[in-house]
Amino acid sequence: AKDVTILAIESSCDETAAAVVRNGREVLSNIISSQIALHTVYGGVVPEIASRKHVEKINGCVRVALSEAGLTLDDIDAVAVTYGPGLVGALLVGVSEAKAIAYAKKKPLIGVHHIEGHICANYIENKDLMPPFACLVVSGGHSHLVIVRDYGKYEIIGQTRDDAAGEAFDKVARAIGLGYPGGPKIDKAAKEGNPEAFTFPQAKIAGADYDFSFSGLKSSVLNYINQAKMQGQELNANDVAASFQKAVVEVLAEHAIRACKEYGMDCLAIAGGVASNTALRDLLEKECAANNIRFCRPSPVLCTDNAAMIGAAGYYEFMQGKTFGLDLNAVPNLPL
Ligand code: KG4
Ligand code: ZN
Repeated sequence: AKDVTILAIESSCDETAAAVVRNGREVLSNIISSQIALHTVYGGVVPEIASRKHVEKINGCVRVALSEAGLTLDDIDAVAVTYGPGLVGALLVGVSEAKAIAYAKKKPLIGVHHIEGHICANYIENKDLMPPFACLVVSGGHSHLVIVRDYGKYEIIGQTRDDAAGEAFDKVARAIGLGYPGGPKIDKAAKEGNPEAFTFPQAKIAGADYDFSFSGLKSSVLNYINQAKMQGQELNANDVAASFQKAVVEVLAEHAIRACKEYGMDCLAIAGGVASNTALRDLLEKECAANNIRFCRPSPVLCTDNAAMIGAAGYYEFMQGKTFGLDLNAVPNLPL
């Protein structure tokens, strides 16, 4: 079969990214311009600043992605872009860029769901991975347990009732003075802390076997921190980080393994920024081995936001004939 080369663009939050991906699995280039340093002083992503920075960076990202792949716009077969969910102003920058290229070069345009992109990151380094499999999607905005029935066919069996896992990491990190972005900072601090120092609650939701809830856990950590402060006790941030992280990753792993067993899935994949968490990866590696489940996890750089994953997801849409018109718009709350 003829090779399919896709230029992919991602700008849904605070990373401006472009990539060139061949046949859905071979990454020819993967350029990420991170805005993290810019937002750190505000303690979180400022949407207006994110949009403006995307505008500044997007053309450069596309240019470098093409040149690193040794290609020009004439060589690509289609343009894929994240059109939701995400920050509307941020999404619009990538969508406009992709539409401009599609129009100017008469290339097919493919709209990609951001979460579908995260899931498809697993195809890049696991060349033989094929549906069906279970996937735990844990990012800054989403916590979903998904059965991937086929390419483009997803059954959501569980999701968060309140905060996303990454959001809980970010909020707790801010409270213990680790700053933004919280996930990687808690991951690092936890390595120096005692995960048994505190027992924080692991919310279970009656009647909803696979749903998550992280706001109770987050509140209990914040309460502990405030109490310690009022009583003038010194806070051991590493212990709090380790104990909080343990409570999160244990509930994520428990749900994921149970889902594999109940749904008869012999493969578990993970996706999203929180999937780069070392404690989660270690625990799932152990649990999957103990239960005879194949464990797929993307390299950390493919877990957090990137455009290569959008190129992977876009390829399978393209092969199914799913292309979009130039009226493609950003959809901030696009459902999976
Ligand atoms: O997928 P992502 O890059 O963006 C969204 O689609 O949301 O995920 C970002 C989230 C942030 O909340 C960040 O704190 C979290 O992923 N994160 C981590 C780690 N690296 C990033 N959480 C826990 N441990 C990490 N190592
Ligand atoms: Zn993401």
